[in-house]
Amino acid sequence: MNVTVLIMAGGSGERFGAGQPKQLVPINGQPMLAWTSLSFARCDRVNAIVLVGSADAGPALRAALPSEAAARLAAYVAGGATRQESVRNGLDAVPAGTTHVLIHDAARPCLSDRLRDRMLEALTTHDAVIPAVPATDTLVHARDAQVDAIIDRVDVSGVQTPQAFRLDLIVKAHRAARARGFASSDDGSLVLALGEPVAIVDGERTNIKVTYREDVAIAEAILRNGAAA
Ligand code: CTP
Ligand code: MG
Repeated sequence: MNVTVLIMAGGSGERFGAGQPKQLVPINGQPMLAWTSLSFARCDRVNAIVLVGSADAGPALRAALPSEAAARLAAYVAGGATRQESVRNGLDAVPAGTTHVLIHDAARPCLSDRLRDRMLEALTTHDAVIPAVPATDTLVHARDAQVDAIIDRVDVSGVQTPQAFRLDLIVKAHRAARARGFASSDDGSLVLALGEPVAIVDGERTNIKVTYREDVAIAEAILRNGAAA
């Protein structure tokens, strides 16, 4: 298995609203991207990292990589207008010989080595795997500020990254989605749309996505407690 990790850092962080890419915001004194990339940089089973960011943030994002991560960097790729486009650009840039990819949000800096290893392990028996955690909040369909329908929480999970795929399958899924005009910010959904199975492994509650400002303090506490070590 020859694994390349795509780190997705091409978003503009509208909900976060920092005036700079949220992936560079300091978390316990280090840029978010430094934390995100470390889990992969210190893993022997990861051969290469492809970093996807905006065209102008390239120098700043590269500078945020710790030396161990910079040493594994195979390519810096400009992202697109949507996450789906950004992933597609990243897939186009994986080094020759890559057989599998992990696709991870730069905005999830608390990824633990345990979860990373679970994803890699799952690739030995599955071609498409996503981490998920059971929903704790009750979820509803809403329309015009009215509850439309209650969704049974028992059937619902929250999906995280890194998601793991055989390279040829995820490339095919992205091509098919583009051809059919199917859009999703979730890579597993594109595989499912092909009619191919997507396996679930246990995600981690600590593997939060930094979406809003208040998530920074939560990520700092998680990393300080070593929950992600
Ligand atoms: N991402 C990307 N390219 C895009 C959009 C998103 O690479 N065109 C990346 C983000 O940088 C982030 C991850 O995908 O690490 C998850 O996206 P999200 O949390 O939604 O980040 P943003 O899109 O930046 O935030 P927002 O939706 O609030 O604008
Ligand atoms: Mg977004």
